[in-house]
Amino acid sequence: MTTPISPVVDLTGKSILITGGGGGLGADMAALFTRLGARVLLADIAQDSAEAMAAKVGNGALGVRCDISDEESVAELADVARCEFGRIDALVNNAAHADLAGDLDLLGTDTSVWRRTVDVNLTGTMLVSRAIVPIMIAGGGGSIVTIVSRAGIAPPLSSRRLTYSTTKAGLIMLARHMAVAYGKKGVRSNSVAPGTIETERMLRDLSAERLTQSRANVLTPSLGRPEDISNMVAYLASDAGRFITGQTIQIDGGVLTGLHE
Ligand SMILES: NC(=O)c1ccc[n+]([C@@H]2O[C@H](COP(=O)([O-])OP(=O)(O)OC[C@H]3O[C@@H](n4cnc5c(N)ncnc54)[C@H](O)[C@@H]3O)[C@@H](O)[C@H]2O)c1
Repeated sequence: MTTPISPVVDLTGKSILITGGGGGLGADMAALFTRLGARVLLADIAQDSAEAMAAKVGNGALGVRCDISDEESVAELADVARCEFGRIDALVNNAAHADLAGDLDLLGTDTSVWRRTVDVNLTGTMLVSRAIVPIMIAGGGGSIVTIVSRAGIAPPLSSRRLTYSTTKAGLIMLARHMAVAYGKKGVRSNSVAPGTIETERMLRDLSAERLTQSRANVLTPSLGRPEDISNMVAYLASDAGRFITGQTIQIDGGVLTGLHE
């Protein structure tokens, strides 16, 4: 299904870096942003996926390998952004690590699972932001959108995903910190918290029972689709979102609004 284009959201001439842009939500964003006129830089630990997606979306898109948890790899990414693009108008912190099998409750989660998840999600996102914010400021400002999760606002009642939830909660604060610290320099920073979105990976990884439960929990007739996230991120990245900063926008079918009696 193709996402309808809203006339208020125009990304013509903008350079946008998407981490984890090789698949899932990041790839959907890359396709929409390109249709709205942007040139995208896709950074993914999976080099083939990043390159393939860049070739697919076109408009001068570039796909590069980057492990966001590795400071050297992030420095190389910043060099590409500076040399090949010259400016970054929007950064989408989208890459994340999730260990569905090993990330359990406090007593059941192995330290190695905790460390890798924190390294990628929290430290990695900080490293990319720290490398890109000076480029953004040098270009006169821009918009940072950090993809967090409903799980970073309320822990799943299953008591699973301790580490993922904790990193996403931390990222909400990182996004707010950047809004406060660099707002007067023209940098806006927001986070977007998806609920369950029917990406290929989610439909493959989640059990039929879990999907049925998720569909029952939302206030909407169905679960979210990738374009529900991409549309909001495009809006925040565009000049239409110029007065929106420091916010956490939940796109979750209202799942946290009602209480089970
Ligand atoms: N799909 C959902 O229902 C859902 C719900 C809530 C939050 N989210 C969040 O949305 C974002 C995208 O999720 P998705 O479902 O598309 O996930 P996904 O696993 O399909 O895509 C994540 C991408 O990040 C890349 N990546 C992983 N580790 C990396 C690293 N160290 N360095 C660089 N790239 C790395 C992967 O290769 C992959 O292309 C994530 O931040 C995720 O936590 C998704």
